[in-house]
Amino acid sequence: MLVPEALLEAAVAARRVVVVTGAGMSAESGVPTFRDAQTGLWERYAAEDLATPEAWERDPAFVWAWYLSRFGAVAHVAPNAGHRAVAAWAGLTQVRVVTQNVDDLHERAGSRDVVHLHGSLTSFRCERCATAYAGVVDVPEQPVERVDPPTCAHCGGLVRPGVVWFGELLPLEAWEQSVALVEEADLVLVVGTSGIVHPAAGLPVLARGSGAFVVELNPFETDVSDVAHVVWRETAAGALPALVAALRGHSDRP
Ligand code: APR
Repeated sequence: MLVPEALLEAAVAARRVVVVTGAGMSAESGVPTFRDAQTGLWERYAAEDLATPEAWERDPAFVWAWYLSRFGAVAHVAPNAGHRAVAAWAGLTQVRVVTQNVDDLHERAGSRDVVHLHGSLTSFRCERCATAYAGVVDVPEQPVERVDPPTCAHCGGLVRPGVVWFGELLPLEAWEQSVALVEEADLVLVVGTSGIVHPAAGLPVLARGSGAFVVELNPFETDVSDVAHVVWRETAAGALPALVAALRGHSDRP
């Protein structure tokens, strides 16, 4: 696969790279993107209706069961060639990952210090005292519609998923870190996001405004396309290995 010339040039010269990823990054691992229709027990619901404090308030057992099914699904898939290429790229120059994804596929591929803007499926905490939950999370063999969430050993509050729901603030430290990273970056590669959910969708604009070379990798046009210097209409698992292979060809490093 041919790597766009301007991207390769910028990537060879870059000393600080930030890869901003969305659901499309994990699509080829079998994780449905956020705007893909829900399946199975939840097909009648839009993800936006389930991932809210209101939905949790209304029926925590229903929302908990949905997150258990997602937690179980992610545990059964593996990082794809795109995740692995991003991890390998960090062996050639400084590459940091800022993700909207709540899966742990970047980490399982070997990327370190991944900034999770929307939290994580693999962490849980008490909704009342925020104590991290370290207990067992039982994923039913077959998805079931309702499972009572565990309770906090500290205060008895309900344990909730460690993800950021619609209408909730992003974790401040993660947000400030991602802003600092894109402001200092030479190259920002935006992979597999529709660019419609803010404030994460503002990072490409911030990057461009700070002088970074911005590239979009997405098979389809998005709200990021006009902000990017270059758009690469390919998939994450197809294109990223080609980019890293081309970079290896350019560097005397193994
Ligand atoms: N490779 C690259 N991009 C892909 C691939 C692929 N294999 N498959 C799909 N895409 C692109 C789609 O074209 C789309 O633009 O990934 C994007 C996925 O968009 P969304 O489903 O909207 O996901 P995302 O942008 O990550 O959503 C942002 O919204 O719902 C919230 O918190 C949730 O983090 C999520 C945020």
